[in-house]
Amino acid sequence: MKRPKVFIAKPIPVEVENYIARHCDYKKWEHEKEIPREILLKEVADCDGILLTGHKIDEELLSNAPNLKIVSNISVGYNNFDIAAMKKHNVMGTHTPYVLDETVADLVFGLILASARRISELDRFVKEGKWEAGDDKIFFGVDVHHATIGIIGMGRIGEAIAKRAKLGFDMNVLYYNRTRKTAFEEKMGVKYRDLEALLKESDFIVLMTPLTKETYHLIDYKEFNLMKKSAIFINASRGQTVNEEALIDALQNKKILGAGLDVFDKEPIDPDNPLLKMNNVVTLPHIGSATAKTRFDMAMLAAKNLVKGVLGEVPPNLVPE
Ligand code: DGY
Repeated sequence: MKRPKVFIAKPIPVEVENYIARHCDYKKWEHEKEIPREILLKEVADCDGILLTGHKIDEELLSNAPNLKIVSNISVGYNNFDIAAMKKHNVMGTHTPYVLDETVADLVFGLILASARRISELDRFVKEGKWEAGDDKIFFGVDVHHATIGIIGMGRIGEAIAKRAKLGFDMNVLYYNRTRKTAFEEKMGVKYRDLEALLKESDFIVLMTPLTKETYHLIDYKEFNLMKKSAIFINASRGQTVNEEALIDALQNKKILGAGLDVFDKEPIDPDNPLLKMNNVVTLPHIGSATAKTRFDMAMLAAKNLVKGVLGEVPPNLVPE
């Protein structure tokens, strides 16, 4: 039988590459800098499968790759897929759920603590030699323990955040989700709220919903106006789930206290983005799942999805439609 041809669009661990090599012929992009679009289009033209993270899969690419059976994303988010175009071209899409849930939840707690206790700001302060003896009120932050956290999007990562909030920090946990999770509510003692009530009641608001047509700019001017002036806003989902202009307005006009952001409207963020000038905003370069072990597990899971797909089997982690 003819071996399938695949393209690996980003560097992956050697063990994962060896796994793919056992089943497929492959070409790869091995540079740290992202593959330019025109090279990607050229490389995938004769391929049965592609392994990538977040590159746009649209009509142009699909009509340029007539043999394509599967695109395997090394990420849980799949907003880079034009699902309708993939359906039309009969191309499967897969992602990497489960393996990153706890790692992303850890990072969210990092953002919560860093924002509430001003860790990045005060780290800079100490390193710049500004620490002087005297009244230390200028270092005060706000408590995380026993505060109210509102989680928007109670998927697996949302649940992992709720678990940390409840068991580790004795927080009052509210959530908003498309569907209610009554078993989880009972098990963890978390409470469902509609979006408006959650925004009004929460000290920490964590946005953890996937980016879809429905969640695009879910948090906008109206939503920031509902939040407490003391609220801290955390986003580790996708930049476009919030209207970034409304977020900047809320921070500049002190409608909220601060923010912890792992994701942005444009990534990498422009160096002149006002968010980067604000001391009450913690910014990270989209590192939710970025630990060596989790990224290895994600790459291996994506490779397994890819191989199943090119061999004509149904991969386990097809993206929901
Ligand atoms: C994902 O996998 O979608 C996350 O954003 C990675 O951090």
